[in-house]
Amino acid sequence: MNAETSSRSARPRLDGDAKARLMEEIARIEGAATTEIEARTAKLMAQIDAEHSARAATSRPLLETPAARVQIPHNMPPEVYSRWSRLPHLPVNAASLDRQLVITASRTDPAHSAFDVLRTRLVQALADKGWTRVAITSPTAGCGKSFTAINLAITLSRYDDCRTVLMDMDMRKHGLMRYLGVKDAPAIGDYLRGLSPLENHFCRLGANALQLGDNLAIALNGRAESYAAELFHQAKTGDVLDEMEEALEPEVILFDLPPALAQDDVIAFRPHFDCVLMVVGGGITTAEEVREATRRIGEDKPILGVVLNKAEIEGQYAY
Ligand SMILES: Nc1ncnc2c1ncn2[C@@H]1O[C@H](COP(=O)(O)OP(=O)(O)OP(=O)(O)O)[C@@H](O)[C@H]1O
Ligand SMILES: [Mg+2]
Repeated sequence: MNAETSSRSARPRLDGDAKARLMEEIARIEGAATTEIEARTAKLMAQIDAEHSARAATSRPLLETPAARVQIPHNMPPEVYSRWSRLPHLPVNAASLDRQLVITASRTDPAHSAFDVLRTRLVQALADKGWTRVAITSPTAGCGKSFTAINLAITLSRYDDCRTVLMDMDMRKHGLMRYLGVKDAPAIGDYLRGLSPLENHFCRLGANALQLGDNLAIALNGRAESYAAELFHQAKTGDVLDEMEEALEPEVILFDLPPALAQDDVIAFRPHFDCVLMVVGGGITTAEEVREATRRIGEDKPILGVVLNKAEIEGQYAY
């Protein structure tokens, strides 16, 4: 049966086939009492509706969810499309994002435009170099790494033809949950150890009026642990990240890392990223700390940009 949906009502209109079946049924019960005809007709209509619903459920495009405003890129392989479609949606609350300083969501704060510029330059630089993996770190704590990571990711989600992955890799503090107003999330450690699958950890942004796309996959961390460096050293972590990249084919992967000078987590994570965005806290970070952090990260991991955060002049960057 091919029932078309009426534009005026959600109820499917009957096509020729369905109408014929209905008339046939009515003809068979001609002469029966009106109530019986009504009952049988209602039963048949319910059957037809059920068939329609079943068909709609199986033929619906995979990303046709309330958040499916974003055009799936033409070059997206079907299997990648299908994997993204299985990621659950995270409810988007504009007021809460505003409160948590996710300024690229509502764009009411003029500082958001600095992130748009950073986004454009970042995507360009990654494409030029053939890189995808960006470590976001700072010399010391509290400079705004997570603030930069989430704002950059959110503004990247507005690029229809760019898939972005954001992972909370600050295993000791799990700082991204707060920005998204999330109270609970699975432990990223379980994912990196290969104990639980990708679909359990990554989510996309749900329906929203902010034009935020669902081509951003976010993996939060709901459990702090103190063995981050050891975990990052394990071959399994590399395998899991490689598998994730193969599965989701993102153009940009942002890792929200801990401070580079605090523990050896960032050094341990070196094999897993291509380049660095160094967040410098205005009035917090000294030039010597930046030099030391850069030295520790090593010359083979280029500093793609320096984000000057919490400064009097708005977020600046350099390449
Ligand atoms: N540009 C900014 N303006 C005002 N507040 C900011 C700004 N950037 C960050 N903050 C605030 O500063 C605090 C630290 O920010 P954030 O958690 O992003 O830093 P971090 O470098 O990730 O810290 P940590 O080292 O603890 O992971 C937060 O309360 C955040 O809301
Ligand atoms: Mg942080």
